[in-house]
Amino acid sequence: MEPLVRTRNLTKRYDDLVAVDGLDLEVRPGEIFGLLGQNGAGKTTTILMLLGLTEPTSGEARVVGLDPARNPLEVKRRVGYLPDSVGFYGDLTGRENLRYTARLNGIDRAEADARIVEVLGQVDLTNRADTRTDTYSRGMLQRLGIADALVKDPALLILDEPTTAIDPIGVVEILDLLRRLVREHGLAVLLSSHLLGQVQSVCDRIGIFAAGQLIGRGSLDQLARQFGEEAAELTVGVEADRATDPSAVEARLQAIDGVARATRVSTVQDNEWTWHIRVRAGAPEPAVRGAILRMLADSSLRLADLSRQPPSLEDIYRRAVARARLDGAQAARSAADVGKPAGATATSRRGATDSRGGREHADVGDPRRAGDATGPSPRPASADTRPRKSTGMPSRVKSRHRPQRGPGAGPETRP
Ligand SMILES: Nc1ncnc2c1ncn2[C@@H]1O[C@H](COP(=O)(O)OP(=O)(O)OP(=O)(O)O)[C@@H](O)[C@H]1O
Ligand SMILES: [Mg+2]
Repeated sequence: MEPLVRTRNLTKRYDDLVAVDGLDLEVRPGEIFGLLGQNGAGKTTTILMLLGLTEPTSGEARVVGLDPARNPLEVKRRVGYLPDSVGFYGDLTGRENLRYTARLNGIDRAEADARIVEVLGQVDLTNRADTRTDTYSRGMLQRLGIADALVKDPALLILDEPTTAIDPIGVVEILDLLRRLVREHGLAVLLSSHLLGQVQSVCDRIGIFAAGQLIGRGSLDQLARQFGEEAAELTVGVEADRATDPSAVEARLQAIDGVARATRVSTVQDNEWTWHIRVRAGAPEPAVRGAILRMLADSSLRLADLSRQPPSLEDIYRRAVARARLDGAQAARSAADVGKPAGATATSRRGATDSRGGREHADVGDPRRAGDATGPSPRPASADTRPRKSTGMPSRVKSRHRPQRGPGAGPETRP
């Protein structure tokens, strides 16, 4: 199946800052792809290029088979987009705002009304559908933004930080909804987030973004193999024993050769004590397990569980970023060694490749500012020309008064 998003060497520069650096990305029908990265990593810039809201400096993108730089309106008609800050006409109700979007997308009124009832139900806004959106909470606006992205029944949903304002229970509901849409309608979702737990729980594949580059990509398992194997995590469960003090057991676990850290975790069972053991990088895990078993036997404690923890996305992420920084620093140093300014490497920073990665390899490179190994820099306020607000279709301003522009108005103001 044709991917719904495909980019080749997609790059965006703002003066000497490379916001997105040689991005190769594919999102296929029926998958949720998570762009994970810290503030300033380049997630929103990537999304804006995919929607034709900002032009790439070089490279190319295909979205639903179209070039967004040349067909921005057609792309926006076929792609549901939730921007990082949603805006609606405050003097219109939720339902009226969605009708407006539907009309701009050429959906006829009867079909639109039925669709709007459905999407409002999906985001759990039915009972507020007929109040003005300037009375909505931030989370409600974000839910309405998701409904707005769904109104046109898109093949692809692009969601920029979709749940930042939504409460924890709402987040679970929204993520379930995304899963259902993907499963039942074969939709593809590209979402950006810096919330590791969310990305881990909902995404089929993950792209780890740092300083404008995708430094790792694949399923959680694939990423774990690339970035997670250095230090294993073990879970040790021990039957609670009245005669023994758990902190004494912890001290003995901590003293085992190869144990970097033993952390007690609380569990619902009060007849069992549990620790997470982080094995020191490079220490042989089987030997550590053996030592744990011997210590427990010597202490006359009964083992309830000894298992290996899959690495968390947080660990993977931390390691991926650390590795990219290390490689960046090395690249800058070797450029300096041959007497070139570090900036001379700016166009060839994608050399280092993870040899174990197979097809889903990790591209590791140096940070975007040549010679600066510390990562992204703050956005220069004066240079900020990005669209202030962008919904899926022509811009709406969050205000009490409806701007003097109607359907059929031109595309959003471009930077
Ligand atoms: N219009 C602009 N002019 C100059 N620099 C910009 C502009 N837009 C973005 N940048 C810079 O590009 C880099 C990437 O920004 P971007 O908004 O894509 O990051 P992000 O990953 O979406 O971050 P966040 O998690 O904070 O939303 C940042 O260093 C930012 O300062
Ligand atoms: Mg962003």
